[in-house]
Amino acid sequence: MIPHLVTFHFYEELEQLPPFHPDKTEDVPIVSSFRRQLATADGVIICTPEYAFGVPGVLKNALDWVVSTGEFNEKPVAVISASPLTSGGDKALESLLHTLTALGTIKDENSSLSIPTVKKKINEQGQITDEDTYKKLQLLLGHLMMAIEKQKGNKEG
Ligand SMILES: Cc1cc2nc3c(=O)[nH]c(=O)nc-3n(C[C@H](O)[C@H](O)[C@H](O)COP(=O)(O)O)c2cc1C
Repeated sequence: MIPHLVTFHFYEELEQLPPFHPDKTEDVPIVSSFRRQLATADGVIICTPEYAFGVPGVLKNALDWVVSTGEFNEKPVAVISASPLTSGGDKALESLLHTLTALGTIKDENSSLSIPTVKKKINEQGQITDEDTYKKLQLLLGHLMMAIEKQKGNKEG
């Protein structure tokens, strides 16, 4: 499904990022590290639940930290919402896509996927057991790989 040369890095410090404030201009090491990791990634996958019809605060907070510094600008993204409800977290997804538009990411109508009733589609190990969802994720990641290749080609001129 994914070429062997692809390496995934999971960012696991969303909850440690301090609350964003535009006047906070001094160097905050964890924020600098977050920005650096984004800057060096060829592409970014965001997978989110929905809370109160929106994205989790920690995710929005992280995105706010890179509005002015531009690490997401022209970055290919794949965006997934998943929910135990039949709505699939579609409102969080829509809101997230708006934010990513503001950040200047590279995406189109094939860059996002909402997964409804997710608890029926994964097993206890967190593996996907639903064939249709598996295929949709394959397509989504394939699309991201193509966007990354295209973007690399553009940068190399
Ligand atoms: C405070 C709270 C608000 C939530 N709001 C929504 C919501 O608006 N839409 C939705 O699809 N799920 C909502 N959920 C369900 C979460 O998305 C779900 O609990 C989350 O995916 C975590 O799954 P878990 O039960 O495996 O921990 C909410 C859950 C909590 C606790």
